[in-house]
Amino acid sequence: MPDKVYIHTFGCQMNVHDSEKIAGILKAEGYVETESPQNASLIIFNTCCIRQKAEQKFFSELGRIKPLKKRNPSLKIAVTGCIAQQEGSRILKRAPHVDYVIGPQNINLLKNIIKSSSVQIALEDNPLLADIELPVERTDNVKAWVNIMYGCNNFCSYCVVPYTRGREKSRASDSIISEIRKLAETGYKEVTLLGQNVNSYKSNTDFPGLLKAVNEIDGIERVRFVTSNPKDLSEELIHAIRGFEKVCEHIHLPLQSGSTKILRLMNRKYTYEDYIKKVGQLKREIPCIAITSDIIAGFPKETDKDHLLTINALREIEFDGIFAFKFSPRPGTKAAEMDGMVTEDIKLERLSEILALQDKITLKKNKALEGTIQEVLSEGDIKADLPGKMTGRTRTNKITNFVCNNSNTGRLVNVKIIKAQKHSLEGELV
Ligand code: SAH
Ligand code: SF4
Ligand code: F3S
Repeated sequence: MPDKVYIHTFGCQMNVHDSEKIAGILKAEGYVETESPQNASLIIFNTCCIRQKAEQKFFSELGRIKPLKKRNPSLKIAVTGCIAQQEGSRILKRAPHVDYVIGPQNINLLKNIIKSSSVQIALEDNPLLADIELPVERTDNVKAWVNIMYGCNNFCSYCVVPYTRGREKSRASDSIISEIRKLAETGYKEVTLLGQNVNSYKSNTDFPGLLKAVNEIDGIERVRFVTSNPKDLSEELIHAIRGFEKVCEHIHLPLQSGSTKILRLMNRKYTYEDYIKKVGQLKREIPCIAITSDIIAGFPKETDKDHLLTINALREIEFDGIFAFKFSPRPGTKAAEMDGMVTEDIKLERLSEILALQDKITLKKNKALEGTIQEVLSEGDIKADLPGKMTGRTRTNKITNFVCNNSNTGRLVNVKIIKAQKHSLEGELV
């Protein structure tokens, strides 16, 4: 019987992709993945601490599996990801049933660590991270994540990422291109280039140069990227989105706040005016572009007036969608020490107002697509028990459901949009 591993992933795409690498490493070591922790001889929690809620979720899961270790003392429990880096050995104090704590820059060590019978903690800075190639066990056959850079140098005052993921490191373009060529050869149609701030990618080419090279790879039909920091969004990038046919017309461009005063306190290094100028240029040069964003409600010192500026920004820009969060003070960040904390009640009130307004805008934007024909990359059946109900995304990244009785997974199809909802579009094949 092969050893079984249960992997539970929290957090962002970066973590989702790291879990694919963890799965790749473990598969090479003879493990098979299991959906249930009860059957596993190794449990991995790939964790996130971007907000307190994410952290709480992990600790409650960790508590829940404690009896499994009592029942099976040879069970090994590993904590990887951002909480591992942030909390280090403190995790062991809180949860002595944990065996291994491995930071995101050290997952290459997992292979040896899991063979150890003693407690292991790996949190070293790893300057070679971007040069290390790890096996990847992907969960999707059509779309693939590809790391182009690791870490972040921006130190936005609320954010843990520069502490948990270390300094920014770009991966060599040759190794990115060769990974994507291999993906194309094995049938992948879409790649999403991953980095905390892809616009500052730098190896022997810059980010628009990298997009040009990826655009030329035969077999790949679509290229996406996340995330763009507005301060580094260049004209060259706008031209690249417009000019390279495989680069999709969607940009995730986190605004965070409509108030320049708050943006300054957040250390975002752009004003609202800078942001709106860039959005204007994006919309002028690429009229069909979808723009999505992140908003933080109730940052320290945010007054009703600042909040109103965010509300006005949402009205003015009309994002296709947003992720909005209550400000969560994170230990070790500057914002956690700031004066002028906003009460939970007010944060919640502001968040609700933001979400309610955006829901209307999202629906309105989706409704405008009714009657149009959209190119959709089919991802196959929505659910295995619902054959014929297929799903995919438009180039602008909107989920689109349609009926089709032939399997067309991985194909580009044209879909006429019949009905728009808040979170998806319904259409029929043309
Ligand atoms: N690198 C990306 C963001 C990564 S974190 C960028 O700079 O755009 C994803 C989102 O989580 C951020 O855009 C922000 O809106 C939110 N976030 C990060 N830290 C937060 C905190 N302490 N409280 C609330 N939201 C936070
Ligand atoms: Fe965090 Fe700012 Fe870096 Fe994004 S750019 S990961 S918000 S520090
Ligand atoms: Fe991602 Fe969460 Fe870390 S958002 S970078 S897994 S703190």
